[in-house]
Amino acid sequence: MNNTETSKQEGVTPFAHRLLEWYDANARAMPWRVPPHHHAQGVRGDPYHIWLSEVMLQQTQVATVTDYFIKFITLWPSVYDLAASDEEDVLKAWAGLGYYSRARNLKKCADTIIADHDGKFPQDLEALKKLPGIGDYTASAIASIAFDQPVPVVDGNVERVMSRHRRIKNFYPDAKEETKIILADLLDRERPGEFAQATMDLGATLCTPKRPFCTACPVHQDCQAFKHGDAELFPFKKPKPVKPTRKGAAFVVINPNNEILLCKRPDSGLLASMTGVPTTGWNSRQDGSTDTSEAPFEADWNHSGIARHTFTHFHLELTVWKCETDDIEADGWWCPVDLAFDEALPKIMRKTIEIALNV
Ligand code: ADE
Repeated sequence: MNNTETSKQEGVTPFAHRLLEWYDANARAMPWRVPPHHHAQGVRGDPYHIWLSEVMLQQTQVATVTDYFIKFITLWPSVYDLAASDEEDVLKAWAGLGYYSRARNLKKCADTIIADHDGKFPQDLEALKKLPGIGDYTASAIASIAFDQPVPVVDGNVERVMSRHRRIKNFYPDAKEETKIILADLLDRERPGEFAQATMDLGATLCTPKRPFCTACPVHQDCQAFKHGDAELFPFKKPKPVKPTRKGAAFVVINPNNEILLCKRPDSGLLASMTGVPTTGWNSRQDGSTDTSEAPFEADWNHSGIARHTFTHFHLELTVWKCETDDIEADGWWCPVDLAFDEALPKIMRKTIEIALNV
């Protein structure tokens, strides 16, 4: 019997053993994560925290998520508190993370957990996938990290680690299934949640996209890409279509009380129901005018600059126009300028206001 078989019988592959030994010494600290020495003593993470963090981590990196996560659990310490919240307040707290349907689904998911699951997250992968806003990745991450279910968890970091380790030549996302099969075989059945987090940490800290630190890697001994010296070539990915650039104009109105005119965006389309300043119509297929011909009213508009933001399918450039008046007829409300940033402002709106106010 070879080494691999012996270890597998005991439930730990050499890959998992080396990886987890490394994780025990190097796990990154995160406010939702149970450190390995506590996990070993039987401490488990709060599924509510793990769910929140995983949804947020699909938007941005750990450092940014940490601040948002603390804000959320301070405002809503339990899933019951989140279910009892106003959607508008959840959108405000989420503002800046983007993809606002995720924030709406957070609230819907909390409602469903209370209504249909007695306030507890289901442990089963299929039941998790049925919850609002929980897709394949999030369901597997929760099942694994919160409930130690032996399911493979594949995010971008894990794709990189495994595609290099096995020198996977198929293109992602097609190669995802292949990666799951490999992981299902490798993972540690005693510590599946920590195994998942260890692969993610490895991808984030050592097995980085450029210049990976292979000699420091706990699993470089049997890494195929290390052996071939071509780790940086992996993962193979289908080229992404080039994003078009859309244009439009935004109008910042300040009154003599130093208040800004805000309005709620239409309740469908991009940034639906979010707060902002008046803009021309723009969407993923169409430009708006960049001059003042579609301003909400005639005024002495001054050009302040251009606000840029990249959405999932396009870049947007909004020409920012500003005027100072309270003599207007326009939909919306006045908000003291220094309170505007507490609103549910998407990033493009925040940038627009910053450009107009020169802050
Ligand atoms: N990325 C997404 N989820 C993560 C986690 N739980 N640990 C580290 N990186 C992650």
